[in-house]
Amino acid sequence: MSKEEKIQIAASILSADFSRLGEQVNEALEAGVRWIHVDVMDGHFVTNLSMGPQVVLALRPIGDRFNSRLDVHLMITEPDRYLADFIRAGANYVSVHVETCPHLHRTIEEIRTLGARFGVALNPATPLSALEEILPELDFVLIMTVEPGFGGQEFIPSSLDKIDRLRRMLGKSRQERVLIAVDGGIHAQTAGAVVKAGATVLVTGSAIFNEEATVAENLHKLQSAIEN
Ligand code: DX5
Ligand code: ZN
Repeated sequence: MSKEEKIQIAASILSADFSRLGEQVNEALEAGVRWIHVDVMDGHFVTNLSMGPQVVLALRPIGDRFNSRLDVHLMITEPDRYLADFIRAGANYVSVHVETCPHLHRTIEEIRTLGARFGVALNPATPLSALEEILPELDFVLIMTVEPGFGGQEFIPSSLDKIDRLRRMLGKSRQERVLIAVDGGIHAQTAGAVVKAGATVLVTGSAIFNEEATVAENLHKLQSAIEN
């Protein structure tokens, strides 16, 4: 298996052209993407507002044609209130921010019971130690490599060390099955370094959906950067 096949690219639709969202998601899936990342923002936890469960519901049939995953990143306070809505709409993966979940164990149990896989997201300033007690329960950890809220921001270089420390932490506790996802500022110049540090799921928005090239061309650029 080549390095590029082990790495999943999760296309963040936040940078897609919303006037033709279905078409853009279709393009990404046709090009080979199998994770579609849906960024949910509430104007409280992050300043921006984005989308709700209706978008997941609308994308579900498109995703199903390609047997692909809908990965919902909840950047909202009180995520527990909306878990059922998103999972019933068709989310396969749900990530909540540790900063918003005082009862993380209960939140995770709820996601599991509703039938989705789950991850915990960490803001850049949140230490990995916040996950120590819960690590064996998780399907993935989402390391924010920018402050959440907007697409197209600069990758925070100190994230590389954090990814590497998480990889070691998982190795030490024999939890290598837990995926390491990264989100923010991932493009051809940063993708190789995050993979080298241990990331296996790369969330990327503006490097996939932009006016400079087609989704397929952008994906290819990213995959060659990972390969080399
Ligand atoms: C940021 C979101 C990201 C965003 C990434 O808060 O969580 O998923 O879409 O966008 P890029 O890849 O442009 O940094
Ligand atoms: Zn995201």
